[in-house]
Amino acid sequence: MSALKVVVLYGGKSTEHEVSVHSAQTVCQILEAQKEKYQIYPIFISRQGHWFLQKNCGPKTPQDVPVTPVLSADANLISLDGSLRLKADVVFPVLHGTNCEDGTMQGFLETLNVPYVGCGVLASAMGMDKEISKLMARESGAPVLPYRVVSKFKEHDKAALEKWVTQTGLPVFVKPVRLGSSVGVRKVKKLDELHEAVAFALQFDTDVMIEKGVDHAREIFCAVYGDELTLKTSACGELRSLAGEFFDYNAKYIVAGGCETKVPAEIDPQTAQKMRQDTEHIFRALRASGLARVDFLMDKNGSYYFSEINTLPGMSQTSLFPQLFEACGEDYGQILQRLIELAQKRYTQKEALTLSR
Ligand SMILES: Nc1ncnc2c1ncn2[C@@H]1O[C@H](COP(=O)(O)OP(=O)(O)O)[C@@H](O)[C@H]1O
Ligand SMILES: [Mg+2]
Repeated sequence: MSALKVVVLYGGKSTEHEVSVHSAQTVCQILEAQKEKYQIYPIFISRQGHWFLQKNCGPKTPQDVPVTPVLSADANLISLDGSLRLKADVVFPVLHGTNCEDGTMQGFLETLNVPYVGCGVLASAMGMDKEISKLMARESGAPVLPYRVVSKFKEHDKAALEKWVTQTGLPVFVKPVRLGSSVGVRKVKKLDELHEAVAFALQFDTDVMIEKGVDHAREIFCAVYGDELTLKTSACGELRSLAGEFFDYNAKYIVAGGCETKVPAEIDPQTAQKMRQDTEHIFRALRASGLARVDFLMDKNGSYYFSEINTLPGMSQTSLFPQLFEACGEDYGQILQRLIELAQKRYTQKEALTLSR
């Protein structure tokens, strides 16, 4: 059997552009090692949205070949100089954040009529939206913190919001509804910081969430992969910020050693089991497929709350996703292989649906 042509997509018009390149380097390296199975086409997407075929996955180089996706029976990717005409068997989006993880790219790949790894349009879009994903998580039985959402285009009652914050108790966290990497997030410890934090977050998104804060929260993560029939949840892991009061952009990416990982997390086994069940229920409630990482916040009494879901989590060797599964004896290469098989399976199932009456 000839090798499967796999296009790996990374970079993108996103605040998480670099993180994505880093993730994709690992994914390409692991898949390229299985030469008899996969022929890898590493495609870098610039911050402006232009596509380039690279020799080796990484940041942009002058040797990269400009390519463009096309909708044609014999190709879904061509080079602008006409030297390449490729029909990919599978696309592996190793992209994070806005324009990448939010259903936008997934919708584009659906239109290109190509199988792709990970969640579809609906799950990606719901997963990116912190309010919708919390509604779905709550519906699935997972604990969720109280919150309010204000919009840029609808005047909100500032006094009512202050009253809610006073009743809920400080601190609260103010954050853009659809962003990642802690961009625009502030911890509000005093009431007079509230409105400025809301205005700050509204620079990044048209909707902003004000959420009851878990002071000095423990941040616990659980990953999942598979489809409806074969879901696997990982061990739970913990990430501690060593660089600030919460896991802000600095702690995540700027300060070397800004965080410390503990896999498996030191939590009691029943809680870990419950978290894994919640992870599975949330994944199903969102109609997710392929893979995801679910993030929880735990207070000092050991109670935990669903925080967010990442439908394309960090996938580099040092990311949590592989670590959480390796802790339960799973091989990352085999997981990637399984994700590619699932992408093909989902595509075939969709293709088998009747489109006429
Ligand atoms: N309600 C909360 N209580 C405690 N910490 C929070 C809360 N909301 C956010 N944080 C802190 O802010 C970080 C970023 O918020 P998060 O909701 O995960 O957004 P992002 O999508 O940017 O990662 C979290 O990792 C956590 O450290
Ligand atoms: Mg987060």
